[in-house]
Amino acid sequence: MTGDDVPEAERLSDEAFTPLAEPGMSTNRSPEAQAMWRVRADHLLATDPAGCWVAERDGTMLGFATSFRRDLTWFLATYAVRPDLQGAGLGRALLEAALTHARGCLRGMLSASRDPRAFRRYRHAGFTLHPQMVLHGRVDRSTLPVVDEHLREGTETDFDLLDSLDRQRRDAAHGADHAVLLAQNRLVVVDRASGSGYAYIAGDGKPAVICASSRRVAASLLWEAVASAPEELVVPHVTAANEWAIDVGLAAGLSVDTSGYLAVRGMKPPAPYVHHGALL
Ligand SMILES: CC(C)(COP(=O)(O)OP(=O)(O)OC[C@H]1O[C@@H](n2cnc3c(N)ncnc32)[C@H](O)[C@@H]1OP(=O)(O)O)[C@@H](O)C(=O)NCCC(=O)NCCS
Repeated sequence: MTGDDVPEAERLSDEAFTPLAEPGMSTNRSPEAQAMWRVRADHLLATDPAGCWVAERDGTMLGFATSFRRDLTWFLATYAVRPDLQGAGLGRALLEAALTHARGCLRGMLSASRDPRAFRRYRHAGFTLHPQMVLHGRVDRSTLPVVDEHLREGTETDFDLLDSLDRQRRDAAHGADHAVLLAQNRLVVVDRASGSGYAYIAGDGKPAVICASSRRVAASLLWEAVASAPEELVVPHVTAANEWAIDVGLAAGLSVDTSGYLAVRGMKPPAPYVHHGALL
């Protein structure tokens, strides 16, 4: 993949993922979401050109996969084949190409859609698939607790703390990804002797990442996201290992549905942790 491929890959991805949209998830990306997608893809091409691949015929893109390594973990950011060409083996070839970038890594992690073709590819590549839940609905504001965890706004001067928390929870720092996450979200930090953690929270209240040293701090960070939601809130990517998040969602009046899988190999689902769909 090269930088010139990114706009076409974004369009192909939107076309491939829209039929899979689930409760609380939007179909077709807004222009703003398209631009954020392209920024993340350009970022991964800059840090991990060897992890990003396209399949093409006569100059037309048929599919692509973007992946990256942080410390000794390989992450698949996103992966799609043109809808009219799915099920014919292109996905297999693309994932094999991306997995060459995983050589030497001890662990792997990706967030899988509910597409049964994706499930086959990931299981055959040695991943264990853990069902993900999505909490969604109108926030019952009468439930908001007074959070006394000393939350504060974060900046890039917190990145070393964030990387250290990442290594505790998922064995790999986000490293260069923090700059992209900060540009696309609000950062909230807890940094106390009794517990630390951070959350990236999108403009609509959706937590993009939550990572903390304890469930108590993680729950406070999620309550901060709940409190900042305009009305409706979506909290995606919750695994059964993170029941603290389910309990906050239920207390806030949200509904729970299943939504795809967290696929891991060489590791367990991180906790207390809510992962990002692409930058995990
Ligand atoms: C997931 C995806 C990238 C895989 O690409 P692909 O070209 O369809 O994959 P392949 O044809 O190589 O493999 C698909 C597998 O599913 C099987 N399959 C095909 N159609 C299927 C169907 N309707 N139901 C279940 N399995 C099916 C194929 O036989 C093959 O399995 P096998 O290799 O064991 O025989 C592609 O289907 C896609 O873009 N899906 C929508 C977006 C998405 O979910 N991306 C993954 C995000 S995590």
